[in-house]
Amino acid sequence: MATKSVLLLLQLLLLLLSGECDLELNYYKESCPKAEDIITEQVTELYNKHGNTAVSWLRNIFHDCIVESCDASLLLDTMNGIISEKTSQRSFGMRNFKYINTIKDALETECPLTVSCADILSLSARDAVALLGGPHIKMKTGRRDSTESYVAVLTDFIPNHDDNISLVLSRFNSTGIDEEGTVALLGAHSVGRVHCMNLVGRLYPDIDPTIDPDYGEGLRRRCPTPDPDPKAVQYARNDPETPMVLDNMYFKNLLSHKGLMLVDQQLVSDPRTAPFVEKMASDNDYFHQQFSRALILLCQNNPLTGDQGEIRKDCRYVNSYN
Ligand code: HEM
Ligand SMILES: *[C@@H]1O[C@H](CO)[C@@H](O)[C@H](O)[C@H]1NC(C)=O
Ligand SMILES: *[C@@H]1O[C@H](CO)[C@@H](O)[C@H](O)[C@H]1NC(C)=O
Repeated sequence: MATKSVLLLLQLLLLLLSGECDLELNYYKESCPKAEDIITEQVTELYNKHGNTAVSWLRNIFHDCIVESCDASLLLDTMNGIISEKTSQRSFGMRNFKYINTIKDALETECPLTVSCADILSLSARDAVALLGGPHIKMKTGRRDSTESYVAVLTDFIPNHDDNISLVLSRFNSTGIDEEGTVALLGAHSVGRVHCMNLVGRLYPDIDPTIDPDYGEGLRRRCPTPDPDPKAVQYARNDPETPMVLDNMYFKNLLSHKGLMLVDQQLVSDPRTAPFVEKMASDNDYFHQQFSRALILLCQNNPLTGDQGEIRKDCRYVNSYN
């Protein structure tokens, strides 16, 4: 009897320590039963009108969750002493933020001040992945929203496009994501685009010898000058063949030296990551399975729960400024 209660106590302690006890599947089932359906409906409608919103929802979750916590700090606008994370150089090229308000407005109409912006970020990423031909992921909810921006420390968490693989692996490791999961998550670069300013370092004065020469020439045609105007909409597709499908073409491209950024291409030259690239290139289901596992880990990074943070009324502002 006594050992049994000690065991129970230990289990409880472990749950508390792991910090996962407060997130649960369908957290809003009583407070807002239609919440998840409304999000799926809005995300699908937006995708049908502007397909690249789905790509944005996927990038959002990385930028929000890897910095401290999945708490929608990313979405705060600059005002009243808060400087938006969106202004960071690392956020360059992020788009479609205004459509988050469309999703939030639909939820506020159904159940005011109930569904967090942090959960909107996670669930919209989940739905976006499915719309982009990726796996259907079971995502827990119950996150709350931050009242602060982490712009000052953001670059300590989000790597740069030309950072080395050791740094990238250590950043993901701090979030509890292993090497295999990191490789899978970078597979998100199977969709979307990269602006020339993030590419020219590999194209001028000489084409990086790890790039396939014909592909390099093609990239130079996309990015004809070594110092592009950051405001110019010059970019290359991550995966020119299936740019809107979350598939393993990204890994096939890496193996044929058609990785766009240095963070991408390095995955094949490091012995810690190369075997996973090969496995994912040869098996799309395995990529999807690893992607699901790692995205769940990312989306459960250190959430605010219980009475921490708040449920924002407008995802752009903390409630005291609303
Ligand atoms: C080492 C880690 C990573 C770095 C350094 C990185 C960096 C970048 C950069 C520089 C861009 C291009 C921005 C532009 O020029 O417009 C980009 C695009 C993108 N990233 Fe990442 N990324 C990383 C990991 C991830 C992860 C883990 C995800 C999601 C799970 C992700 C999702 C995306 C998506 C979807 C795009 C395309 C955005 C669009 O077309 O609007 N990235 N990333
Ligand atoms: C990787 O980058 C970090 C930070 O820029 C640097 O300290 C480290 O020496 C680099 N490691 C390698 C193997 O180049
Ligand atoms: C993070 O790195 C440490 C040290 O190498 C390792 O023991 C640990 O298992 C890693 N964590 C994950 C999630 O891979």
